[in-house]
Amino acid sequence: MASRQNSSNRHAHIVGWGKALPDRVLANHELAEMVDTSDEWIRQRTGVVERRIAGEGETTLTLSLQAAQAALEVADLSPAQLDLIIVATVTPEHPFPSTACLLQDALGAEKAAAFDLSAGCSGFVYGMSMAADSLAAGSHDRALVIGAETLSRIIDWTDRGTCILFGDGAGAVVLQASEAPGGILASVLGADGSGGELLILPAGGSAQPASMETVAARQHFISMQGRQVFRFATRIMPEASRQVLALADVEVEDVTLFIPHQANDRILQTAAKVLGVPVERMYSNIARYGNTSAASVPIALCEAIEQDLVKRGDVIICVGFGAGLTWAASAIRWSMPLPVPAPSRRMAAWRTVRYRWAKLRSSVLRLWRLADARLFQILYDRHGRRKR
Ligand code: ACO
Repeated sequence: MASRQNSSNRHAHIVGWGKALPDRVLANHELAEMVDTSDEWIRQRTGVVERRIAGEGETTLTLSLQAAQAALEVADLSPAQLDLIIVATVTPEHPFPSTACLLQDALGAEKAAAFDLSAGCSGFVYGMSMAADSLAAGSHDRALVIGAETLSRIIDWTDRGTCILFGDGAGAVVLQASEAPGGILASVLGADGSGGELLILPAGGSAQPASMETVAARQHFISMQGRQVFRFATRIMPEASRQVLALADVEVEDVTLFIPHQANDRILQTAAKVLGVPVERMYSNIARYGNTSAASVPIALCEAIEQDLVKRGDVIICVGFGAGLTWAASAIRWSMPLPVPAPSRRMAAWRTVRYRWAKLRSSVLRLWRLADARLFQILYDRHGRRKR
């Protein structure tokens, strides 16, 4: 397990946040028409009432882009000011190139390094911790961290053990380095690969490349041993929370709000009980969105802010667990004044110009590459003929 307390004189502060959710709502009663389940069973065992499902044309990239633009608006920054982009996801746009690179192009964040991070539902907290360390070390000044998923594309809609749980969405934060104390105080990251098969997408990788057989065996869908994951989650959520609180030197009763991964209401209730905090201090929106994997913590964080549950000086704990197995927790001292002042008109106009420019730039670069390749071919052919 890796844990880290920020002891440098640079601190990573959350200065922007945003979320994106597909419009399509899939309610429990609709699922009950698809598989052998009921609204009552799903509500009682998970707390989920409905979830969002990506529509045609909606992908992990389009949801990431919407969430990123919303976060940049709150931060009142231009995409050109970003120097790091991390997208945490288990449902990337493609196995490669990374969704983060495609997002970098779509935003026009020309200066930013970009990569995807695969740590299951802990991915966003992993990414935020990595970005915060990089800011504290002085390697970068501003980072965009996103959790984004289109799990509906890898769900077996005939498996009642998994299809009732998951949903689609994206959440983003912008982190900025500053010498003012606060922001991300400490993080704890952990992994136990011996539990890898408990939550797995069996085929499509080097172990089992896609074939007629893997498709016929439905191995391109999520496979989960729910009961075992449940047991792991109820143990690790309080454990990781306690560890990060000790690192940040904060007492559990001084935490204003826990932003846990939204996996199952019963997991949140058990974690609250073990930690000895009232369940109201565990933010929950699972009823409306289900489990959106890496997107669940940043979406929950955005909603907690929108609902005025967080104010300057508060300590909040983001905590997640998931496929890997992985777990992660971050202690944050909230430093942004709320509500945020309206973004400056000049910067808003500049952002609009930048997004248009990003589209144009991307098309021009693609055309240029085509022309360049053609020119190279012509010169190569001529040179080759002369030699012969
Ligand atoms: N509707 C009706 N009955 C069902 C359903 C369903 N949707 N699913 C399972 N059942 C049945 C089972 O067949 C079983 O029947 P049986 O007793 O006759 O065998 C019974 O209900 C109990 O099954 P369990 O699996 O024990 O049910 P449980 O209470 O554990 O709930 C659940 C299942 C909701 C999946 C739970 O185990 C859970 O939430 N686990 C954690 C999942 C999780 O957090 N995943 C995180 C993913 S993180 C990431 O990285 C993507």
